[in-house]
Amino acid sequence: GAPVEVDISKIEPGAMVTVEWRGKPVWLINRNQEMLDNLVKHDEKLSDPKLDVPQQPEYAKNATRSRKPNLMVLVGICTHLGCSPTSKLKAGEEGMGSDWPGGFFCPCHGSKFDLSGRVFKGSPAPINLEVPPHYYISDSRLLIG
Ligand code: FES
Repeated sequence: GAPVEVDISKIEPGAMVTVEWRGKPVWLINRNQEMLDNLVKHDEKLSDPKLDVPQQPEYAKNATRSRKPNLMVLVGICTHLGCSPTSKLKAGEEGMGSDWPGGFFCPCHGSKFDLSGRVFKGSPAPINLEVPPHYYISDSRLLIG
């Protein structure tokens, strides 16, 4: 499949868009400062907080799992059996609480992920969501693939 070029300048802070790449959904989440601050608060509840399993390119093996801190790029397919997780980005949405600050929830068997796609312990999903290869062509344009 061909790489997909995306204009990321229109994604508001706190919002996400979905694009298709190789027949798969790819999520682009423009994490705001509050979302980024929350990422560091729940490491002990995650299966692989330090990204030991190689599911991301080397350039995304860092605290935010991304090239630019704010913009998260994820393949939107559950690593359990391939369902489509739903996004829960706004504080107070159903299911959020002290156990889970929101992110992505898979309705098929209840896997929970954070806004870096890292899986919470106790979820049936064995590993974090995949980060696809991606490159910035300019500040506003991203190439996936
Ligand atoms: Fe997502 Fe089973 S497919 S939890």
